[in-house]
Amino acid sequence: MDSTVSIFQLKMEDGITFFLLSSVLLLTCGLSREDDAVCVRPILDGNIELASNQTHFSPGEAIVLSCKQGYTPVSGPRRIVCIVDGTWTRTRYMCKSKLCPYPDPPANGEQYYEDTVYLSTINYTCHEGYTLKGSRTAVCQANGTWSTPTPECKAVSCGLAPIPKFGMIIYDRTVRGDKTYFGIGGTYRCLPPYALFGNPRAECTIRGTWTKTPECRVVTCPPPDNIEKGYMSNGDRRDFDFMETVKYGCNDDYVLDGNMEIVCQQNGNWSEKPSCKASCPIESEKAKIEYRGKKTWTSDLQNKVILHKEIVSFYCKDTVRNCTYTVPTQCLDGVLKLPECFEELSKFEYNLNSTEIQQC
Ligand SMILES: *[C@@H]1O[C@H](CO)[C@@H](O)[C@H](O)[C@H]1NC(C)=O
Ligand SMILES: *[C@@H]1O[C@H](CO)[C@@H](O)[C@H](O)[C@H]1NC(C)=O
Ligand SMILES: *[C@@H]1O[C@H](CO)[C@@H](O)[C@H](O)[C@H]1NC(C)=O
Ligand SMILES: *[C@@H]1O[C@H](CO)[C@@H](O)[C@H](O)[C@H]1NC(C)=O
Ligand SMILES: *[C@@H]1O[C@H](CO)[C@@H](O)[C@H](O)[C@H]1NC(C)=O
Ligand SMILES: *[C@@H]1O[C@H](CO)[C@@H](O)[C@H](O)[C@H]1NC(C)=O
Repeated sequence: MDSTVSIFQLKMEDGITFFLLSSVLLLTCGLSREDDAVCVRPILDGNIELASNQTHFSPGEAIVLSCKQGYTPVSGPRRIVCIVDGTWTRTRYMCKSKLCPYPDPPANGEQYYEDTVYLSTINYTCHEGYTLKGSRTAVCQANGTWSTPTPECKAVSCGLAPIPKFGMIIYDRTVRGDKTYFGIGGTYRCLPPYALFGNPRAECTIRGTWTKTPECRVVTCPPPDNIEKGYMSNGDRRDFDFMETVKYGCNDDYVLDGNMEIVCQQNGNWSEKPSCKASCPIESEKAKIEYRGKKTWTSDLQNKVILHKEIVSFYCKDTVRNCTYTVPTQCLDGVLKLPECFEELSKFEYNLNSTEIQQC
């Protein structure tokens, strides 16, 4: 028959589990095969080890208790003895987990742990831009030490950025020595007249390498052509370097449309050339106009022209209402469309000057 063994178990927050083995409550019923074997093997806390595999004990027989690996004994006695009535002598023997010291987090990193008892683990991580040198985990060992020391978090470094031939880099921040760290960037430039091909921005990456280095190449543009009705600042029939410029101007009465200056671009082409647009001759001899914010007569115009893109307003007459109104028109490359309502005033009216008709 089985024996009944009662054990009071107390679990405490710090991980200690202990048992009170009570000689009063630990009792056996019936007899075993051997008449004098009155005590049965006691059931104990899982962290306590018994020095014997025996299942039945005679009065006077003793068992020595010990703690499993990673646990240390607290209070005693270690030895319990089988008593005639089938119980064991009292003990307060218990086994407490060994504690590892509280760990310190690595500089520039974090640690994660829940406890510091035997077999607890710590996980280590490093902040972005730092690499972990050492072990990512540590385990609390049976002797109360961590299996590995705190790892190091080392900043990812790249070394100086590679410089393309005929180029240079301007770092975003001051670089000391020959080390650069994750996150630092720079901008590449090519020495004139070399042109930059690739990404001018570079960065020290998390892998400890620099992003792709651009190239500096020679770029030339063919000699630019002149523009119609105009002239250029540099008529040399030679190849021009990247970023070189040439200026254009227009002959009298022609107006430059577009950028005055062209630049030799990275692709070996010139930027868009301007063109010279013709002025509009004023054929009407005797028209009253509004031009450059003033009322005047066409006959008073200098050179008798309106320049390209300029706006001029002509007077039209509303015969029904006996009044005049203005209609604007623009000179576009030599073409000035007169408003349909416009009629040249008679020589008489023009000379008279006094017949100012009211504006509508
Ligand atoms: C108890 O028995 C197990 C196997 O059942 C054996 O491995 C162990 O060595 C024994 N312990 C003692 C103290 O006899
Ligand atoms: C440590 O990492 C392991 C594996 O990623 C995970 O299972 C465990 O929960 C972590 N422990 C702690 C305390 O964060
Ligand atoms: C603790 O145990 C580990 C593993 O058995 C061993 O390497 C280490 O030297 C021990 N430390 C001490 C202080 O005894
Ligand atoms: C350069 O200009 C030529 C002619 O206008 C054009 O065909 C060519 O595509 C341009 N090259 C580039 C790289 O834009
Ligand atoms: C018309 O009259 C104005 C003054 O009202 C005068 O300044 C101008 O010279 C005159 N023009 C002609 C053509 O008589
Ligand atoms: C038009 O008005 C002017 C004054 O603004 C006047 O002298 C003239 O007689 C008028 N003409 C007609 C046809 O009404």
